[in-house]
Amino acid sequence: HLEESIRPYIDLIDNLRSVGIHKDVPLPHIAVIGDQSSGKSSVLEAISGVALPRGSGIVTRCPLELRLKKVTSGVSWKAVLSYRDKRTEFVDSSLVGNYIEAAQNELAGKGVGICDELITLEVMSPDVCDLTLIDLPGIARVPVKGQPEDIGIQIKNLITKFIEKPETINLVVVPCNTDIATTEALKMAQEVDPEGKRTIAILTKPDLIDKGTERNSLDIVHNKVIPLHKGYIMVKCRGQQQIDENIPLEEAAQMERDFFQKHNDFRCLLSEEKATIKCLASKLTQHLVDHIKKSLPQLNEQIKKQQCDLRNVLKEYEAGPPQDPKGAKQFLIEILTRFNDQIKTLSLGEKIIKGNL
Ligand code: GDP
Ligand code: NA
Ligand code: MG
Repeated sequence: HLEESIRPYIDLIDNLRSVGIHKDVPLPHIAVIGDQSSGKSSVLEAISGVALPRGSGIVTRCPLELRLKKVTSGVSWKAVLSYRDKRTEFVDSSLVGNYIEAAQNELAGKGVGICDELITLEVMSPDVCDLTLIDLPGIARVPVKGQPEDIGIQIKNLITKFIEKPETINLVVVPCNTDIATTEALKMAQEVDPEGKRTIAILTKPDLIDKGTERNSLDIVHNKVIPLHKGYIMVKCRGQQQIDENIPLEEAAQMERDFFQKHNDFRCLLSEEKATIKCLASKLTQHLVDHIKKSLPQLNEQIKKQQCDLRNVLKEYEAGPPQDPKGAKQFLIEILTRFNDQIKTLSLGEKIIKGNL
């Protein structure tokens, strides 16, 4: 069972992250990037079942870490939102948007500014798959009223910070009805990952494709145009009208399947496992697990080294205090001073960790 075999890895990484080990050792995660309105939120929403804030213009203004955890018993849906030293638990999934917006307003100010502080949303439900995704602000070229002139550069710098890390799997969202060769997000991903070893592209909006260009999109998915090591997947999400009509996600998934089954050019993608959100979700999980498996030896080395350093420190105390009273007093003062320094460093570290979570 895929699910059974991946759970321990995902749990391990999440546990390591929760004790702050990512300060010392880079941990893998999946970052979602693309132009504004390319369909990032739609893809994330369809994978996670979590209704994220959406709309035209700049909606995602802080990086959002979405940790999905499949739980088989206990809760039907539960979420924990955390940023800085704040932590909010809630069970009403319709409140996600409000909470994220409030957090963004606090971190990035009300309006159209951006901020690179992380907001974390942990979602526990039987209906999600085990994934940790990071949603990033969409790439925009022209500043809107109230945005600084260099907003485009600010957003690109923020995105780069996440996607340049070698442990990040970059999910590039590209609409079918745009020219993939000019897609900024793919260019950025290729700059930090020239061989495309940790880049997966997702073609969205196949239902809005310009008539006569279906073969081009098929060639792209078949890796014939801009080859990527991890390839392409085509997905169809809910259009604006379906959102307005409140079509549930499960129904949208069925409609997606029907769309591909009925499509003369794209039907073949179903059996090739290069289409649908469902297929994307299981591919992503597998990629993440492969990535974690590859990182484990390095993690192991780091932990061994830290353990070794600690052993050396412990050795200094093996002999115990000197026998003569004067020497014993000096020994005690040294220990107390060092202890005091460590407490100071620790409480400082605690503040930093809280600030970053
Ligand atoms: P983001 O800015 O990248 O997060 O883009 P959104 O996910 O907010 O999507 C922008 C618009 O495109 C929304 O109105 C979506 O409903 C629509 N959209 C996204 N994916 C699809 C799709 O596959 N088909 C259609 N028809 N519309 C889509
Ligand atoms: Na948008
Ligand atoms: Mg969005």
